[in-house]
Amino acid sequence: MTDPHAIATRPQDVTTPLTRAAAFLVLTVNDGEDAMSTARSVVASTADLIKDVRLRSLQSEFSVNVGIGSRVWDSLTGQPKPKELKPFQVIEGHEHTAVATSGDLLFHIRADGNDMVFEFEKLLLEAFGDAVTAVDDVSGFRYFDARDLLEFVDGTANPYGLDALPSTLVGDEDEKYAGGSYVVIQKYLHKIKDWRSQSTETQQDIIGRTKFDNIELPDAEGDAQKSHKTLCTITDDDGEHDIVRDNMPFATPGRNEYGTYFIGYSRHLWVVEQMLERMFIGDPPGKHDRILDYSTPVTGCTFFAPNRQFLDDLDG
Ligand code: HEM
Repeated sequence: MTDPHAIATRPQDVTTPLTRAAAFLVLTVNDGEDAMSTARSVVASTADLIKDVRLRSLQSEFSVNVGIGSRVWDSLTGQPKPKELKPFQVIEGHEHTAVATSGDLLFHIRADGNDMVFEFEKLLLEAFGDAVTAVDDVSGFRYFDARDLLEFVDGTANPYGLDALPSTLVGDEDEKYAGGSYVVIQKYLHKIKDWRSQSTETQQDIIGRTKFDNIELPDAEGDAQKSHKTLCTITDDDGEHDIVRDNMPFATPGRNEYGTYFIGYSRHLWVVEQMLERMFIGDPPGKHDRILDYSTPVTGCTFFAPNRQFLDDLDG
């Protein structure tokens, strides 16, 4: 159950419906107290900047979530870390590695059009000035039927509406941070030619759903090779632990760049970590997620997206 207190803290827009456009802006805070102090006040005033942009396009869905990484958490917030917050852990599988890359602040910007995404990023980076360095900035687009660039419908198993709150919002277990969420990102690049040369049956076995009509396939039994869907299903005595994903395709075909930007919001960081372990190490070990034979992560960062009240109070 989600603690009603978690909702009263005004969570960020973690569970908004999928939008047509999104950007993932990852920043590091530059050295020095001046840079930290500027970063703190810009992060604290994000809610105002969101309002400034939102009202300029009344028809458009627009939201921005801010995540803060563990390296700067203490100096930026002056508060102890959320219980599970730590840097992204590298996972070295038999064949594939989940790499960790730098990132102190994440801005996940979602809108119905790229104009609003651009406007917000422009104003935000002007406000930060030379206090930060942008280490990654990826603009994604919604592809037909909410498919990723592996051409499968992506996001189906997400909990929806009120059901998404207990999966994404911290509750009583860390009362100080109730209403916040752990956020994990990874930028994947696809070997698109290899993937597209596989038969539809092979692709479906890898993902665990049918390609055309998005129907779940049965889970593999025993030690047989498991699909992506099965490896990412985490259950324990408390039942199944869901996360909310808003993966976004991005591409520059002229440069042969085709990717999926993975973003997962979760109440518990360990749930996402367990998914990653099952994907990269495999279950049983050695039987890794075959999606990785066609998709390589080139970034990996963990953040905590605190509730809005916490962000507003930072400059207090
Ligand atoms: C399910 C694509 C990476 C977690 C799916 C599905 C697709 C997909 C097509 C099935 C439909 C759906 O339920 O959304 C991808 C691609 C990835 C990627 C293209 C990157 C190349 C990840 C990562 C995680 C993850 C890194 C977690 C750390 C999940 C979960 C499900 C899922 C939890 C739902 C499982 C269920 O049915 O309960 N993904 N995914 N995915 N994926 Fe991924």
